[in-house]
Amino acid sequence: MNDLLHCWLGLLLLAARSSYAWSATPFNPASVPLAVRSPYVSTWLPQGSGKALNDAWATFYTGGITAWAGFITVDGKPFSFMGTPAADADFEKAVQKSVEITSTQSIYVMTADTVDLTVTFLSPVEPSDLVKQSIPLSYMSLSAVSNDGNTHSVQVYTDISAEWLSPGDGAQPANWTFSDGDVLSHSLSLQNQSNYEENSDMIRHGSIYYSTLNSDSVSYMSGSDKAVRTTFVNSSRLANTQDDNFRNINDNYPVFGYTHDLGDVSDATEPIVMSIGLIREPAVQYIVANNQYQDRSLYFWTQYSSADDLISDFLGDYDNALSRAQDLDDKIKSDAGAISTDYANVVTLSVRQALAAIEITTSKSGDSYDTDDVMIFLKEISSNGNTNTVDVIFPMWPMLMYLNPTLGKYILLPALEYQATGQYPNKYSVHDMGTHYPQAIGHNLGKDEAMPVEECGNMLIMALSYTQKAGDNSLISDYISYFDQWTQFLVDEALVPASQLSTDDFAGHLENQTNLAIKGILGIKAMSEIANTIGDRSTASKYSDIASDYLSQWQDLAASSDGNHVTLNYGNDSSWGLTYNLYADKLLGFNLFPSSLYDQQTAFYKQRGFMYGVPLDSRHTYTKSDWEIWTAAIMSDSSTQDMLISAVASYAANGKNDVPFSDWYETRSGEVSGFRARPVVGGHFALLALDSSSPVASGTTFAASPSATDNSNAGCVLSPPFPFTLLRYLL
Ligand SMILES: *[C@@H]1O[C@H](CO)[C@@H](O)[C@H](O)[C@H]1NC(C)=O
Ligand SMILES: *[C@@H]1O[C@H](CO)[C@@H](O)[C@H](O)[C@H]1NC(C)=O
Ligand SMILES: *[C@@H]1O[C@H](CO)[C@@H](O)[C@H](O)[C@H]1NC(C)=O
Ligand SMILES: *[C@@H]1O[C@H](CO)[C@@H](O)[C@H](O)[C@H]1NC(C)=O
Ligand SMILES: *[C@@H]1O[C@H](CO)[C@@H](O)[C@H](O)[C@H]1NC(C)=O
Repeated sequence: MNDLLHCWLGLLLLAARSSYAWSATPFNPASVPLAVRSPYVSTWLPQGSGKALNDAWATFYTGGITAWAGFITVDGKPFSFMGTPAADADFEKAVQKSVEITSTQSIYVMTADTVDLTVTFLSPVEPSDLVKQSIPLSYMSLSAVSNDGNTHSVQVYTDISAEWLSPGDGAQPANWTFSDGDVLSHSLSLQNQSNYEENSDMIRHGSIYYSTLNSDSVSYMSGSDKAVRTTFVNSSRLANTQDDNFRNINDNYPVFGYTHDLGDVSDATEPIVMSIGLIREPAVQYIVANNQYQDRSLYFWTQYSSADDLISDFLGDYDNALSRAQDLDDKIKSDAGAISTDYANVVTLSVRQALAAIEITTSKSGDSYDTDDVMIFLKEISSNGNTNTVDVIFPMWPMLMYLNPTLGKYILLPALEYQATGQYPNKYSVHDMGTHYPQAIGHNLGKDEAMPVEECGNMLIMALSYTQKAGDNSLISDYISYFDQWTQFLVDEALVPASQLSTDDFAGHLENQTNLAIKGILGIKAMSEIANTIGDRSTASKYSDIASDYLSQWQDLAASSDGNHVTLNYGNDSSWGLTYNLYADKLLGFNLFPSSLYDQQTAFYKQRGFMYGVPLDSRHTYTKSDWEIWTAAIMSDSSTQDMLISAVASYAANGKNDVPFSDWYETRSGEVSGFRARPVVGGHFALLALDSSSPVASGTTFAASPSATDNSNAGCVLSPPFPFTLLRYLL
């Protein structure tokens, strides 16, 4: 069977098997992001091959249930519209009419007889505002409209269960309270708290807040799932009572609900808005000099003194937040859509997932927060929970460069500052800042997962990339001696890499990895350019010469004997792999590797595509979606580029799994090999980061310093995009 026929048959089978009863814009993803804002606020609908919003419970990315229930009554008749709640009274199920996914929103329309209810889940993405981006809250809004031209009486109900505190492990005692002012908030906590410890990937610290603005049309209640839900289904309202029998999460499941009476509805109602999230203080434990640990706080605390103030502002800002979100959605859709619709689809589904792995923090001395001390921490979600894994930041890097290069500096700082304290003993770069998020306590024994060439190359490439995109030399100036140290390591170790792991550690150790050597050579070249940028011409030319010399040796070592591809490991003619590390040659504007090499690899991959893409290398038939798109970004013909992108898009829409976007999957079957919800999907922005148009935002708005008396943004940095491309041509 030829490849094309194979593909067509596959698509026909796919069409026949799909059972979606609703319209989807632009496509049906495996798992739909609902509230996805931080490593601990990551709730999805496991839609799979056709579960409606009211066919399944929402889950944490791990699959543990985070129950979120919804009912609507229309002229007194009850329908469920979200989750699979039970009640001691009859109700029907609303029918899902549509789902729409944008970069920041998932929007459902659920039909309950004569009324259509629009349920909007908005997880803001605020690339230039450190305070707003650091807020671990997400919105749900509800708006009803008559669909038969008549007026109907409508009430809506939602609740969350205490499972949000510990998805998948209900044998945990919880307690809760309710605050009743301009804002209504149910807040719930684990009774057994521990600042920096997780249980099944959920932090054992802080409180879940489920909130809405107060008004005459709202009622609330906490109690057992059956009691609260039955009260609404029977009476279209709640009792305004609290259950104060604190107990285990799974003991007569305590739930926390609100109703809103929308009154007589004909035209679309103004949205009623809820917020959900987890607030904790402090957030991250970070190692500083002399093996001391620093508590770091989410950055929004520079601006707010209580969770209630924060939530009140957040709810009050909904209309503006929605309009900012729509602008960003439109920009991403149009930038990515200029490449292809499939590309726009892949990128759209990646935004919330990637950003939810990071937290923006600041430090505190005495009672005040240091607004200028900004560090971003990342959780290596799903693969092993490490903190700030360098080779996980690296694949997501293109998204940061597209959204706002300044974020790139803040995410590199934790590892740079730590190594500058002198506590890390190895001469190559650290792999991660801590074995378990949210601990960033370093590796003073040097026993972190060793990826020596990989991480040295990554740090050098990202540091130069930041410098170019932000037009800011501070990072390379401040840590120049470490960049030089890692370059010397690459000079010793990169051309003929010893047996070691690359970022694709699941594939195991291998000697003489061709793709790793590419990264090492580009790392050396990056140091040459770093030295050049700060005016050290002799260091620049020394490393530039070495990079060129290594490149010519590499061309002989890496070539297969028939000369039609580069091998996976030197000397193994039958081996090959995705040479995605060449992407840095384009990102940094070097064009060091000859264009004939790009042409050769393009022609080679063109012959190797299965239905869902080109395998990662010749050892297996699985691939990585991030490296697939990085490879697409360096193809020298657009048909091969499109082939790679469309393969990832088909995989993302194939309905064969129900987990948040997995980057590791089989190219023949389109099934997940492992991993889910990882930030590396930020790598899908690879083509957009190469685009010469300016990023969504540059610089960041710092919080006004608490001592400032005026309303100016004390630390505001608005660096104009620096024309580095121009500089390269001039030099
Ligand atoms: C709800 O209504 C059903 C059926 O009318 C009734 O059996 C039940 O007792 C009611 N429950 C509550 C909590 O109101
Ligand atoms: C919940 O329990 C924690 C720890 O036992 C306690 O500090 C907190 O005050 C309790 N909260 C409520 C609302 O009872
Ligand atoms: C509280 O959690 C810790 C682990 O963080 C555990 O060792 C301890 O047994 C727990 N205590 C209770 C009372 O559940
Ligand atoms: C790795 O490559 C070097 C340089 O070609 C060669 O000397 C060495 O034997 C290779 N190692 C293996 C295991 O092939
Ligand atoms: C050569 O590559 C193939 C495919 O990657 C692999 O199966 C084989 O073990 C390799 N042989 C050596 C000697 O490395």
